[in-house]
This record gives sequence, C-alpha cells and structure tokens, in this order.
Amino acid sequence: MGFPRERPRRWRRTPALRRMARETVLSPGDLIAPLFVMEGEGRREPIPSMPGQYRWSVDGLVDEVVEVHALGVPAVLLFGIPEHKDERGSAASDPKGIVPRAVRALKARLPGLCVMTDVCIDEYTTHGHCGVVRDGDVLNDETLECLRLMAAVHAEAGADMVAPSDMMDGRVGAIRDALDQRGFEQVSIMSYAAKYASCLYRPFREAAGSGPAFGDRGSYQMDPANAREAMREVRLDVEEGADAVMIKPALPCLDVIARTRAAVDVPVAAFQVSGEYAMIKAAAAAGWVQESDVMLETLVSIKRAGADLILTYFAKDAAGLLQTARP
Ligand code: PBG
Repeated sequence: MGFPRERPRRWRRTPALRRMARETVLSPGDLIAPLFVMEGEGRREPIPSMPGQYRWSVDGLVDEVVEVHALGVPAVLLFGIPEHKDERGSAASDPKGIVPRAVRALKARLPGLCVMTDVCIDEYTTHGHCGVVRDGDVLNDETLECLRLMAAVHAEAGADMVAPSDMMDGRVGAIRDALDQRGFEQVSIMSYAAKYASCLYRPFREAAGSGPAFGDRGSYQMDPANAREAMREVRLDVEEGADAVMIKPALPCLDVIARTRAAVDVPVAAFQVSGEYAMIKAAAAAGWVQESDVMLETLVSIKRAGADLILTYFAKDAAGLLQTARP
C-alpha cells in the first residue's frame, strides 16, 4: 500500500515505448513557409535580425520555394516589398505588383504548391499603418475597399488562399464578397483572427520596412492581456466565412490556440513570428541553446496546443530535419 501501482515511467523506459506513447507528431505537411519578395533580378538580401532569412527577387524566390516544396512543405505565405509606397498603399492592388508577379511565377513552376498571400497594406503605405489614415486615426471601413481590391488582385494572379492580417472589423466578409463577385469562390481565406499587438513583430518590420511612422498598432491589433476577446474575433471571422483562423504570435498564445481549437471546426493555424525566430537564432548563435532542438520543441508544442498548421521561418530547416532524423 502506498507503493505506486501506477507508474507513468513504464511508457518511457525504451525509445520504442516512448515512440508508441507519442501523442503529437510534427510533419512537414503541417508547415507553411513565410517568404519576403522584392523587385529586381538575381537579388537576395539577408535580413540582419532574422539570420538565414532573405528578401528575394522573384527568380531566387522560385528556386528557394522549389527546395522548400521538395522537402514536403505544402504551402508558402508571401509578403511583398514594393518599390513605391504612398498614403493609401496603392501598389498593394497593382495587378503588375510584386506579389501578383511572384504568385504567377510560383504557380507556373510549381502548380501543386499552395500559394498564400498576406493581405494588408502596411508594407505599401508611407505611414506604415495597416489601414487608411485620416487625422491620425486608422479608418476601418475605408480600409476594407483596399483589402477587397488587394485580395482580388492576388486571386486573379492565382493565389490559392489569401490571409488578411490587418485586423479591421468586417474584413473577412468584405473579402469573401469581393472574391465571390469576381468568380473566385474557390479561393480560400485564412484570417489572422486573433492577432495581438505584439512586440515580437519587430524583426519583420525591419525586413519589410513596415514599422508605423507614428503611434502603434494598439487601435486595431489585440491587447496581449486578452483571451476572451480573441474568441470573439475567431467567432466573427468564422461567421464571416474564414476557411481557417490563425493565432499570432504562437508560443506566447498557446492558451488561445487551445481554446480556438476547442471552439471551431475549421483548421487552426499559428504563426511563429519573426521575434520568436530571432530569439531562438540569437540564443543559439551565443551557444546558449541548441537551435534544432529548440526549433522542434517549440513547433511540436504549438501543434500539441491545437494548431493544425504552423507558419514558421524554420519551415525549410524543420522539414529537412523531420525528413532525415526520424527515429
Ligand atoms: C502585417 C503583418 C505583420 C506580420 C505579418 N503580417 C507585421 C505587423 O503587424 O506589424 C508579422 C509577422 C512576423 O513578425 O513574423 N502585414
């Protein structure tokens, strides 16, 4: 009596038993690779705060994605870095813009690849905000028209899925209508449903030159202190027609990922953002942690929390490791 009859360690005794008891298995098919694309030819600019990540010209992007796709990663998410910015981010809806051209080139070379595009005007505006600005305010309903046009232009170019990341109210419904009206009813929407006003997007803003010129994103992105509000955002996006909902950032939001998985039937995605990537890279470069171990542990934890899909700048490296190093 008192002696443990229940011994959880029995399942941990050998590698075979541990493998049989494993509840969550990460696979390359779970991953989506975010990539930055810019003008030019034969250009590949390293992003200092994201070691191993680059701004690619379209030709180099295609070659890189051929490799990523060959490792079993089914999808990429494109962020455009335009040559010209203006007040309303008009380059975002230029049919000959950088993202539509990248989408066309990728679909021509890799018809089986799922091409996703970020839909948000911050990379295209001079002020760096995710919406139309008037008197210092980011206007909601005026911004919807920009998003509708941008999504339609991406769909026209052949995008399989558009991913609005702006956090304006009502944008999923607005984009769904815009796509359907133009005959793109087969193009899916993955909404950044619960996108927090996180300090962890800073390396991305350096990469895309998209930091806000004044103020912050607090009037549209969510307060990291709130989880119930995230559930409201998720519910609204699903009601408006989102085919998948994304939570972002990932590791700080495992609770929100788990609650979302329990609340909806559509696939749930999580975005391991630039700052999460940069922190791991920096600690590994200092020799304080082992990079591939942290990479795989964070990714499997995000999946265990409930993410069906994970957007991560580690997609290529993780897929490579998963292909070779499976016990
Ligand atoms: C906005 C957008 C951002 C990210 C994805 N879409 C930046 C922001 O909201 O400031 C962040 C992604 C990352 O940090 O990896 N277009």
